[in-house]
Amino acid sequence: MTPPSPSTTATAAGPGPLLAEGRGTLSNAVVEALRSGRPPAYAGGSVLKADPWGEDLQLALYLLYELHYRGFEGVDDEREWDPDLLRLRQALETRFLHALRTDLADGPRSVEDAFAPLLVEPVDLSGSLSHHLETDGELWQLREYAALRSLYHLKEADPHVWVIPRLTGRAKAGMVAIEYDEFGAGRAADIHARLFADLMGDLGLDATYGRYLDHATAPLLATVNLMSLFGLHRSLRGALVGHFACVEVTSSPGSRRLAKAMRRCGAGPAAEHFYAEHVEADAVHEQVVRREVIGGLLADEPALEEDVAFGCAATVLLEDRLAASIRAAWDQGRTALRTALPEA
Ligand SMILES: [Fe+2]
Ligand SMILES: [Fe+2]
Repeated sequence: MTPPSPSTTATAAGPGPLLAEGRGTLSNAVVEALRSGRPPAYAGGSVLKADPWGEDLQLALYLLYELHYRGFEGVDDEREWDPDLLRLRQALETRFLHALRTDLADGPRSVEDAFAPLLVEPVDLSGSLSHHLETDGELWQLREYAALRSLYHLKEADPHVWVIPRLTGRAKAGMVAIEYDEFGAGRAADIHARLFADLMGDLGLDATYGRYLDHATAPLLATVNLMSLFGLHRSLRGALVGHFACVEVTSSPGSRRLAKAMRRCGAGPAAEHFYAEHVEADAVHEQVVRREVIGGLLADEPALEEDVAFGCAATVLLEDRLAASIRAAWDQGRTALRTALPEA
């Protein structure tokens, strides 16, 4: 490890997201490194010993990825490219990716095999969760669901932008067309992250970016880390496209159920609107992503087909794990968060 370099620039962030509490050796090391300005201090073998699905590794990875988005209050913006932090991030990513590939060793190898099960019947990534919320969900469960999802939806579509310079032709044009919608089609009030902040307002949640990080469990963090992992590596551009396509293809039916759930529970107009908007928009996005983004990418780079399939399968795997963890908690009548939310 190298000694901390003196901070020569005045780039320390102003008000921004707050750092989370660590959850073990690795995340404590990251939190301490970010607080102190020093390199992360951890034993060499601790990465190899960490559970790749566990709270500690997933939080450490999440914190390191956040340096590429909004950073943290009081943490120098330049830490984004700190070689010691990047070295740790790479080691954590290797563990995470290896765990995904191991779990999906018998997974689909072609786009047809990856997407066919998603297209046979209207399924959605949250699986039984949105069915439950539609018919039996209670307002406190909708609040918990939104608090968890806020870790992604308050930066909705951001991780996918990184793939754009890595695409060409039809894939690039299709991707940009979809992202243009996600970012409000020229209207700040319609940026999907803004619509989600409005939803949180209806649910009596705090829409401050990163506010519920300490509440979020490892299965949720893994779903967000997956996008950052795929987005930040050009070598994983095929997987990013597969992930993005999987989300767009499955979003419409799930959003319809969640819009109904919001209406049934009297969550409020903005809460309903976020999901209603996605029923319409993602029905169109599904067509563009399949025909132009995947079709264009594979016309240009046919060798990436297996990666596209992997990105889709990894998304399904992590969403299934998340849905199972939430249902297990709710079925036992307890919070699906690490700590229950304060009352609205
Ligand atoms: Fe969206
Ligand atoms: Fe979309």
